[in-house]
Amino acid sequence: MSAIRTEIAGVSVVELARRFGTPTFVYDAAMIRRRVADLAAFDVVRYAQKACSNLAILDLVRRQGTLVDAVSAGELRRALAAGYPAVGDPPPIVYTADVFDAESLELCVQHGIHVNCGSPDMIDQYGERMAAVGQVVNLPGQINHPAHNGITLRINPGFGHGHSQKTNTGGSQSKHGIWHTQIGECLAKAARHGLSVVGLHMHIGSGTDLEHLAQVCGAMEQAAAEVGPSLASISAGGGLPTIYRPTDQYVDLAAYFALWDAARKRIEAQLGHAVRLEIEPGRYLVAESGYLVAEIRAVKRQDQNTFYLLDAGFNNLARPVLYGSYHPISVVPCDGNNSRPEREVIVGGPLCESGDIFTQEEGGLVATRRLPEARVGEFVVIECAGAYGFMMGSNYNSKPLAAEVLIDGGRAQRIRRRQAFEDLIRGEEIPAM
Ligand code: LLP
Repeated sequence: MSAIRTEIAGVSVVELARRFGTPTFVYDAAMIRRRVADLAAFDVVRYAQKACSNLAILDLVRRQGTLVDAVSAGELRRALAAGYPAVGDPPPIVYTADVFDAESLELCVQHGIHVNCGSPDMIDQYGERMAAVGQVVNLPGQINHPAHNGITLRINPGFGHGHSQKTNTGGSQSKHGIWHTQIGECLAKAARHGLSVVGLHMHIGSGTDLEHLAQVCGAMEQAAAEVGPSLASISAGGGLPTIYRPTDQYVDLAAYFALWDAARKRIEAQLGHAVRLEIEPGRYLVAESGYLVAEIRAVKRQDQNTFYLLDAGFNNLARPVLYGSYHPISVVPCDGNNSRPEREVIVGGPLCESGDIFTQEEGGLVATRRLPEARVGEFVVIECAGAYGFMMGSNYNSKPLAAEVLIDGGRAQRIRRRQAFEDLIRGEEIPAM
């Protein structure tokens, strides 16, 4: 299959590039809706907004009925700004982290936002702050259990797995979650603060496989038995893989749900009451919807290698340089000639750093990609870039953050303007001499 792309969600890429400039992230709303719908069997789909937290995307998934996860004060504020209520049953927003900073703690306490504690210290800090502001009382609808002041514990089950060692969030080398042998201790700690553990959460890593994800069910059942009757919800975490390489396959979602549903039913039987089953995907919902559109600014030969150098670099999409991640790449002909000869090329960006290469493997090994011949001024689309694309962008080399565009019903609308130079220097000060 030739790596030629002329449109995204029915809109011409050349038109998008001319209208919004490059580099620009373009998202396909219909694809996000489809991915949310895939997970309808779960009681709650809680979007891990760290994957792509533009307010327009949050608004879109909120309208599709997803609830949301937040990992920082900024993400809490985004969730509120996108129209998620602070409290409800189930909690619309959950703060999941291993630490509080002063601002995130204050936001959770003041708004009654449900917390998912990834360290014993968080339980103490939350309990102390709640007592100090006198809020150890019923927060309406915060949980679906008679004992209010509920918290969730994020448990590290002692094992993990990810698409890269850097995205493995379980096991003793991971900083994430409360170690599985400390559940009893944490229950006692919570009780001392008048808090009740109403939820359990496990997320062992990102981009893992069903085999590893399935092991979590057993660990969850054991943890649930320790927590006992206060437990009202379990979360399978995120980590569902998506399709990056042509050889990748979709996970069998029905089988995955069936495993969790069976675990949930065993827990319900043990506890004698209903238990909510949540899933917390980031990548699965948004990765495939996102495209990074860039312009070819140089076509260079270095000995036997040909380089396409783009106006987008790892300041826009860091996954290849960080993890050696593979993203599909296609060329957008500007002259209507869609049957071009192909050649092996290396695709890189504009940054003053040798690692600024999109076609690289883990460890920084530069690879080539078979792509149609292309000229300076034509466009390239880096695909499957909706998750952890824009979000991990930076201002390295004083490059502005890219624009973002959402296509819905054949209509493309800007959802973030490209940064201007003024944005780059905002807040900087030259000391008076
Ligand atoms: N829940 C928790 C507690 C998480 O830590 C994460 C991801 C997710 C859910 C969502 O995981 P997902 O479904 O998106 O795999 N920058 C890396 C991914 C880091 C993920 C961090 N936590 C990447 O580009 O692959």
